[in-house]
Amino acid sequence: MTLSIEKNFNQKFADIFQKLDLDTKFAVIKPSDRPDLSDFQCNGALALAKSLHKNPREIAALIAEELQKDKDVSSVSVDGPGFINFKISNEFIAKSLNEMAEDERLGCSKVAEPKEIVMDFGGPNVAKALHVGHLRSAVIGESIRRIETFVGNKVISDVHFGDWGTPMGMILAEIIHQDGNLDNVESYDIAKISAIYKQANIRCKEDENAKETARQITAELQNGNPEYRKAWKYLRDVSVADVKKTYQELDAHFDLWLGESDAHQACGEVVELAKEKGISEVDDGATIIRLPETNKPMPPVILVKTDGGFGYQVTDIATIKTRVEDLHAQEIIYVVDKRQSLHFEQVFQVSEMLGIAKDVKLEHIGFGTVNGADGKPFKTRDGGVMNLSDLILISKEKVRSSMPKAGEVEGFSKDDIEKMVTQIAMGAIKFQDLKNNIASGYVFDLEDFAKFDGKTGPYIQYAVARINSILRKAKAGGLEIGDIVISNEDERNLALKLSQFENVIMRAHADKEPSIITDYAYTLAQVFSGFYNTCPIMNAEDKTLAVSRLKLASLVRDTLKQLLYLLGIEAPEVMLKAA
Ligand code: ARG
Repeated sequence: MTLSIEKNFNQKFADIFQKLDLDTKFAVIKPSDRPDLSDFQCNGALALAKSLHKNPREIAALIAEELQKDKDVSSVSVDGPGFINFKISNEFIAKSLNEMAEDERLGCSKVAEPKEIVMDFGGPNVAKALHVGHLRSAVIGESIRRIETFVGNKVISDVHFGDWGTPMGMILAEIIHQDGNLDNVESYDIAKISAIYKQANIRCKEDENAKETARQITAELQNGNPEYRKAWKYLRDVSVADVKKTYQELDAHFDLWLGESDAHQACGEVVELAKEKGISEVDDGATIIRLPETNKPMPPVILVKTDGGFGYQVTDIATIKTRVEDLHAQEIIYVVDKRQSLHFEQVFQVSEMLGIAKDVKLEHIGFGTVNGADGKPFKTRDGGVMNLSDLILISKEKVRSSMPKAGEVEGFSKDDIEKMVTQIAMGAIKFQDLKNNIASGYVFDLEDFAKFDGKTGPYIQYAVARINSILRKAKAGGLEIGDIVISNEDERNLALKLSQFENVIMRAHADKEPSIITDYAYTLAQVFSGFYNTCPIMNAEDKTLAVSRLKLASLVRDTLKQLLYLLGIEAPEVMLKAA
């Protein structure tokens, strides 16, 4: 198993600490805060000094003395109150990078104890086209899914369709209102169904009776009315087929296409269980659970509504039960708008009270909104909600305008160019989304998001394409990849940057934060650019340097591609730009 430079040195420090009879808990190193002076630092002596009541500089000096003996270290110093700063020998860096390049996982280990993780993202609703709010759930969810899978966990993703709530009754009621019955439902396409849903919304807002009818129909649907069930199933199927297209375009993968309706039976079991445990009560005809107040008001959780129907909360509680019992989930991760935080707090708390999620980690990763230039949720020009498919069309249009037209570049058909447009547009959309902290919202910037320079997806894709071209030229010139050697500072910096790969992936995994990967990909591409400016490959001083630099370039390419993959982004082999 290849070990990164950092891991190797953590081990070396542990050995030194043991030898000096110091608590190895403090034997950790980290990339230096002063990269101009050292590669890594260890602050363990400061923590040790407190517990041992000794001078930290003295302890640091003892450790430094041992470290000095290691031939893989080129310099050591004790600075400030007791920081140990050190540099790694060029030989060791080269050896480690050669190993990384041989390893198909680029030296990244896997978690020691793989877990069964169920990921709940997407969350589309029947009869509603995906809108820009669904973008983040799909993009962040897919990235975390890929990261978790890469580090060795077993992930099952479930789209969790919103197919069981009042909107279903509203649509059925609206169809009956317009057609007199449900006989024609099966001739409706998605456009018609969405239009009906909008009309239903308006009518239910204006007319209390219409709302009441919709509620009753929802309850009857849930309780098994065959006519409603049949129409509902058709509406659901059409909706699923429609959203599948958008998720496919986003390259978001779902193992399961289950919905709230699939938890119906478990909803009943949850209600029974709550009764048995004596934690529910009947209030005004509804079955509810009261939660203890914390520092903020805690509304009660409604298990069964007055009309006998199940609400949003109980479907989520019941779904936890099925995920634990049927899928053996050890962890359930929800990637859902942070405005639903209270909902998840309540759902998790009730699951705990019911004992249905013992030893299961439940986590809500709440994201902020996608905003327009005015700082308010992103809208169309006429003020409506921006459909996700329209946003993709607009983005592609933007990218297309900066690309050559079909026929302008030899060897590229219309389809080749269109494929590139799609890859770049999706790369731009996703990178723009993922480069922000999940919890903060961001402004969807239609001007700059697809630029080839700056912190954008296309910038990274372009870096990959550029290296592809370097590798093609080298091959044509008969130059083959050789062993990595470190001969100057630029090669050294690039090598050290590359060796951070594992650390970055493990942090992104621990924090469930893809922006750690976007940051790293961006810096790596920048550092490579600096390296390539000063370190010629084909015209290197000698062949040893040429083949070494070629290998470094190829390793940067593989690393960037892997990082993009973890962000859900494809890297085109070649990138064209309009003349
Ligand atoms: N369908 C829901 C909505 O549109 C989102 C579902 C989120 N996932 C969940 N398990 N509750 O608000």
